[in-house]
Amino acid sequence: MTGILRGRRALVTGAASGIGRAIASAYLAEGATVTLADRDHRVTAVTDEVGARRGVILDATSEPEVDALVARMVDEDGGLDILVCSHGILTQSPTVDMSTEMWRETIDIDLTSVFLCNRAALRPMLAQGAGRIINVASQLGIKGGVSLAHYAAAKAGVIAMTKSISLETAGRGVLVNAIAPGPIETPMVEGIDDGWKRDKRAELPLGRFGRPEEIAPAAVLLASDPGGNLFFGQVLGPNSGDVMP
Ligand code: NAI
Repeated sequence: MTGILRGRRALVTGAASGIGRAIASAYLAEGATVTLADRDHRVTAVTDEVGARRGVILDATSEPEVDALVARMVDEDGGLDILVCSHGILTQSPTVDMSTEMWRETIDIDLTSVFLCNRAALRPMLAQGAGRIINVASQLGIKGGVSLAHYAAAKAGVIAMTKSISLETAGRGVLVNAIAPGPIETPMVEGIDDGWKRDKRAELPLGRFGRPEEIAPAAVLLASDPGGNLFFGQVLGPNSGDVMP
């Protein structure tokens, strides 16, 4: 570790588990001041385990909660330099059987809440003329997936939103990018049936799923100076070779 993020103030959502937790740990190791946020109460214990200063229970679909957390960080920390949106859910259903409720829940948690977090972070970042936003999308937002129309649509939305915001912030010091992982060994994927996992592993050029700590370095790169300085509206694909755009 090089301390490349020393002094940077970061907010990581979905930080109680999986990829978000790994990114929060990597940012701490690189010297950042990290706020972990998650709707799961375990975020408090994880905050202690990784040695972060602040852990917050946050429902990222709640506009008042998101706005209040960013306002608190600006008030107490003096600003916000990095936002990572890594919260999310994954459910499955063939489209013909999918309830409207299931569709709306996924769009709300996996897309609309990412907009809420991005918008809240943009206010202080544009005011200070600097910032990095990293949205965790998915390769499924590029290739689609069986029984995953809602999830793939939400993640495609995250990718398109990332590019659009990035164009809006051009020349104003705020760089917005996405990471679109392939299958990663986290609780989210553990819930999928074993047959799917076996077939998926066999199909991957690398022959195995990734681990959360193999995603975190991409998030460090995108947040870093000078490493991340030229990334703008990009979608990095640590995906075991599953998608080659
Ligand atoms: P995970 O299930 O381990 O962690 C997701 C976290 O998000 C959980 O701690 C959960 O409590 C939190 N969360 C869910 N809804 C929330 C809300 N409304 N407000 C605040 N927190 C909320 O899953 P994982 O794998 O770490 O996923 C992280 C991100 O990576 C997600 O956006 C997921 O869609 C994406 N992703 C995951 C892949 C995988 O194979 N695990 C592949 C591609 C993308």
